Amino acid sequence: MAEDLTILKGNKEEEYQSLLPQIKGLLTGETDLVANMANVVAALKEQFGWFWVGFYLVKNNELVLAPFQGPVACTRIQKGRGVCGTSWEKAETLIVPDVEKFPGHIACSSLSKSEIVVPVKKNGEVFAVLDVDSEAYNFFDDTDKKHLEEIVQLINF
Ligand code: SME
Repeated sequence: MAEDLTILKGNKEEEYQSLLPQIKGLLTGETDLVANMANVVAALKEQFGWFWVGFYLVKNNELVLAPFQGPVACTRIQKGRGVCGTSWEKAETLIVPDVEKFPGHIACSSLSKSEIVVPVKKNGEVFAVLDVDSEAYNFFDDTDKKHLEEIVQLINF
């Protein structure tokens, strides 16, 4: 695998297009779940510089903090709670333009203003979620949804 990322600067679509094959390269031949999650969040953080990006893993029917990049965060989230727990329960991606307007939003940091959460599935079952937070309102859109859904499904284990 290549150990250095090439960081292209362009529009969001171009940046995802540049990053995607590199993430595929990072994951090829590695089947350790935590190692693969760690490299995915590191690559995303390096490319996009987001405030917080990380995974929560489903363990004993709750979400538990897994590899992430950014400030320290809440460690456990119940099903149906916050954006992460709701995305898990609904098994669908949630884009939240203003976290203060999301009922039950869990504020790990008061600096986070908008958020996207993408469920990660194996055999149709959600086993993790990818959470991305921004310090700006309205930061995430369907381009992020499309590519992040594609990226999380690349994780082998
Ligand atoms: N805001 C999330 C909690 C996780 S942190 O943002 C890292 C939520 O409402 O689920």
